[in-house]
Amino acid sequence: MSWISIASSEDPPQDNPPFESGRERDIRHTGDEVIGACGCKLWADEGVEIISLVTLTRFQHQGVGTRLILENIKKCKDLGFKWFFAMTVAVDVFLNVGFKKTDYQNLPLKIWVDCASCPHNESDPGGKGCNEEAVELWLD
Ligand SMILES: CC(C)(COP(=O)(O)OP(=O)(O)OC[C@H]1O[C@@H](n2cnc3c(N)ncnc32)[C@H](O)[C@@H]1OP(=O)(O)O)[C@@H](O)C(=O)NCCC(=O)NCCS
Repeated sequence: MSWISIASSEDPPQDNPPFESGRERDIRHTGDEVIGACGCKLWADEGVEIISLVTLTRFQHQGVGTRLILENIKKCKDLGFKWFFAMTVAVDVFLNVGFKKTDYQNLPLKIWVDCASCPHNESDPGGKGCNEEAVELWLD
């Protein structure tokens, strides 16, 4: 798993430096306040799963979420990744930056480990009861 950190006023926490042990986190600050975060899981030969995107309510609709996604993509692109995907309830945020809707079955089976404990996962991931949609982005 990887969390990419972005801070406008301070550096990423040194106890969790970028991509050490495959981890990085992406947290946006204003002053000392965290206003948004986004993570990604690097699936070695497969692609990057964008996860845990969130913006503090009063900072929403100001482009924070979009920028967090784009900066995750840029960092992972620099590592050579070309395929990005997510299961999300906020589809438009992803579509706005070039993602397309896809069939959840196109995504790596490994991501379903997160679905196992989801209260919306009544039977199978992406199936009846699931409130998320699959999106993906391929870079040239
Ligand atoms: C989803 C979320 C991170 C978006 O953050 P944000 O900083 O407001 O995003 P942006 O300002 O970059 O939004 C850009 C565009 O994405 C779309 N968008 C924003 N939030 C959306 C949402 N919750 N659902 C669907 N589309 C959304 C809109 O088209 C928006 O444009 P607008 O501001 O002109 O309406 C934020 O709404 C949030 O934290 N929601 C709760 C947690 C959540 O659902 N996370 C998604 C998990 S995958």
